[in-house]
Amino acid sequence: MTGPVTQPTKVPTRILRADDGAIAEGARVLAAGGLVAFPTETVYGLGADATNGEAVARLYAAKGRPSFNPLIAHVPDLAAARALAVFPAEATRLAQAFWPGPLTLVLRKAKACAVADLATAGLDSVAVRVPDHPVARKLLTSFGRPVVAPSANRSGHVSPTAAAHVLADLNGRIDLIIDGGATPVGVESTIVACLDGPALLRPGGLSRAAIESVLGRPLAEAPADAAEAPLAPGMLPSHYAPRTPVRLNAGSIKPGEALLAFGPAPVRDADKAALVLNLSPRGDVIEAAANLFSHLRLLDGAGATAIAVMPIPHSDLGEAINDRLRRAAAPR
Ligand code: TXA
Ligand code: MG
Repeated sequence: MTGPVTQPTKVPTRILRADDGAIAEGARVLAAGGLVAFPTETVYGLGADATNGEAVARLYAAKGRPSFNPLIAHVPDLAAARALAVFPAEATRLAQAFWPGPLTLVLRKAKACAVADLATAGLDSVAVRVPDHPVARKLLTSFGRPVVAPSANRSGHVSPTAAAHVLADLNGRIDLIIDGGATPVGVESTIVACLDGPALLRPGGLSRAAIESVLGRPLAEAPADAAEAPLAPGMLPSHYAPRTPVRLNAGSIKPGEALLAFGPAPVRDADKAALVLNLSPRGDVIEAAANLFSHLRLLDGAGATAIAVMPIPHSDLGEAINDRLRRAAAPR
């Protein structure tokens, strides 16, 4: 696909010193679908409203992520986390022992989980964490909804531990940086999956020994790089892929197929399809990214012989969309 490779719209990035006014402004920007970098005890996070798919899509665009890695949902306390995820007994013990703190739990999604499908990359698990930093906690409490926040760096760069690092990487790509000084822990949170028994997905700011002493047993080892590349086919047992075969670059529909459309152009033989869903009738890749996983799920449930996918432009988030679709279409 040709076409201009455009950058995400340039926005003036403001920096505010962390005080009550800055936190109120951060909550306002999040509610409007904007991007706010804020300090946690581990590293600076780049926050977006976890329940707003388009805000999440803009976040991936700002980071320049080549693919949609699932994100951590940040909440102010265990009660808020329970609204998003199912806590087996061992997860509750870890949360009670270490939250707030540098521990992320990967758990089964709750039925009423409000986190956008794009933020969990379509997985049926969700990563949650209660950060231990006064600015992060006040922002989460005042915003009142979960905030997804990857480390606030460009994809491939190291995680930022000061507001100046965030500015150097993301100036002009995000709305606001709340400057709360240097982050005390300096490395990312430890990630533990509690899906079928606790497993260490990423070492981090909380030691394995501390976790094992609360569990009273050793942590299982996750497959190498499971947390860094959970979208690689077969890397995670919970990896979401449609059961229905996926056919890419479809120019027309075969009888019995479902169609994942893109853009305003009418599709030949659309009336023959089991179901047609359009990622973005106006042809916008941000909107398309926000709809990608929920549309795939619905099409997968349509009882079709295959999911035909129209060509998606490769510019901006289109690259990540096409990466994900290629994986969904890969032989299994
Ligand atoms: O300390 C931290 O965790 C920082 C601060 C900002 O909270 N955040 C952070 O986010 O490091 P990020 O996006 O850079 O790393 C999150 C990791 C990724 O490697 C991602 O693959 C993994 O968490 N992850 C998220 N959801 C997952 C899931 N459902 N299953 C497996 N891995 C998951
Ligand atoms: Mg990161």
